[in-house]
Amino acid sequence: MNDISRKNFLQIVKTFLAATGLAALAAPIVAFFYPSNLEETPSEPVNAGPVADLPLNESKIIKFGRYPAIIINTPDGIKAYSSVCTHFACLVKWHKESGEIICPCHDAAFSPKDGSVLSGPAPEGLTVFNVEIRDGNIFIGGAS
Ligand code: FES
Repeated sequence: MNDISRKNFLQIVKTFLAATGLAALAAPIVAFFYPSNLEETPSEPVNAGPVADLPLNESKIIKFGRYPAIIINTPDGIKAYSSVCTHFACLVKWHKESGEIICPCHDAAFSPKDGSVLSGPAPEGLTVFNVEIRDGNIFIGGAS
């Protein structure tokens, strides 16, 4: 049987830790110079699922290009917005009790009717995405 000496074992552990540390440092640099190929906003409409799965006053978050989108079934129809808050880019959430889209970071509130700012520090409203219903499915398009 081939025994590893304590010195060799420590050398292996040291090499492993150095390699993982370098990889952890290099990953964000590589990601900066070679970003993923996700489009900022998809050029083709994205299927967000059946209308029947989104009851009135409910919401869902979908992956929409590089960032998520929030879809809300409001009394005025189905609306879709970027989930990225215009203040410091936290992800907003639907708060059905108050009927507002809320940013949990600094309490900005947005209107579910048009994404406009209702209160808080957000400098502008949420980006509005086009909504189209086709064959009972919700399709989210580019910014309108
Ligand atoms: S990041 Fe949304 S209110 Fe500050």
